[in-house]
Amino acid sequence: MSIKADFTQGFVRNHWYAAAWASEVQERPFARTILGDKIVLFRQPDGTIGALEDRCPHRLAPLSMGECADGGLRCGYHGMVFNAAGDCIGIPGQDIIPPTARTRAFSATERYGLIWVWTGDVEPDPDSLPILKGYGEDGWALMDGGYQHHAGNYRIEIENLMDPAHTTFLHKETIGNRAAKDVPVEVSSYDRGLKAFRWIENVPPSPLDQKSFDFGAGRVDRQIAFHFELPATSFVDIAVIPAGMERSEGNLMRGGIRAFSYKFLTPETERSTHFFWLHLRNYRLNDQEFEATLRANLEKTFAEDQVMVTAIQGEQEATGLRQRTAIAIDRAPIMALRLIDRMIASEKESGETGTECEPVPA
Ligand code: FES
Ligand SMILES: [Fe+2]
Repeated sequence: MSIKADFTQGFVRNHWYAAAWASEVQERPFARTILGDKIVLFRQPDGTIGALEDRCPHRLAPLSMGECADGGLRCGYHGMVFNAAGDCIGIPGQDIIPPTARTRAFSATERYGLIWVWTGDVEPDPDSLPILKGYGEDGWALMDGGYQHHAGNYRIEIENLMDPAHTTFLHKETIGNRAAKDVPVEVSSYDRGLKAFRWIENVPPSPLDQKSFDFGAGRVDRQIAFHFELPATSFVDIAVIPAGMERSEGNLMRGGIRAFSYKFLTPETERSTHFFWLHLRNYRLNDQEFEATLRANLEKTFAEDQVMVTAIQGEQEATGLRQRTAIAIDRAPIMALRLIDRMIASEKESGETGTECEPVPA
């Protein structure tokens, strides 16, 4: 068997994608390419976010080279000013604004410390933003601001993040666990996505587990569940509870330690992905030293994935293939990619995709 590498399959467009951390967009406009669209993010005078195509309709100067001024985003070349709807609201030296003086506008919103941009042409659905367990609740510590640029198609990222089995081998210096090597991965689906998971049962708690929760002299059961919520949210749900304890949600939340490691995958182009991450945990809440160690460990882990994703992208381009054989652990990645393909196909069938930029008048 061979599966071809295809970098032209497109993206699910009618969805919110993480475009930047809110802290990245303050006084200055901020440029980022997402789903192949060059976008400029900027703060309006009331503090809300505007998102426009990063090209001035006049001479195509990147609007990100301009500044937030005169009640909108002012082009850095001849000073035309645009509001968040993409309308020109001022042209230096003239009163009349031609109807063509507008640029494409995207809906944008701020949640979880991130700026989300809706990249499709149907009305944005505010309820389709990810729902993060534990976020903003008492008893949870948040680490956020994580970002890496990965030089790989986001399908390679999805395959990686639906694949708990790789942790033993790729992450042996960081989160890998030899005890998990031969534990099979189970897969289940639910309304928002898929879960590939396994329980490592009846093992001694790690020294870190012991420092985080009093497991006494007993052994523990450890869950690692890789979730993928369509089309771009991944999270790893880690739970450690006393061995044999009933695995109810209440026990998973309070019976031991729990963490959610979230990643938001935003395609930049067909060959690169923005990798935003944040982490929530319900233990060692105010331990700054532990937090610094954990952050460094996660960054190292994600960098290990970054290196592998980049290498695989290179090999796919060199061979035109995605894989030449399949093994049992491929089940969840294949299911996830099929769901993505189905969403893309249904957008294409209904004609609901991203709008093209308006042509520049002659
Ligand atoms: S290029 Fe923007 S105002 Fe001329
Ligand atoms: Fe990984």
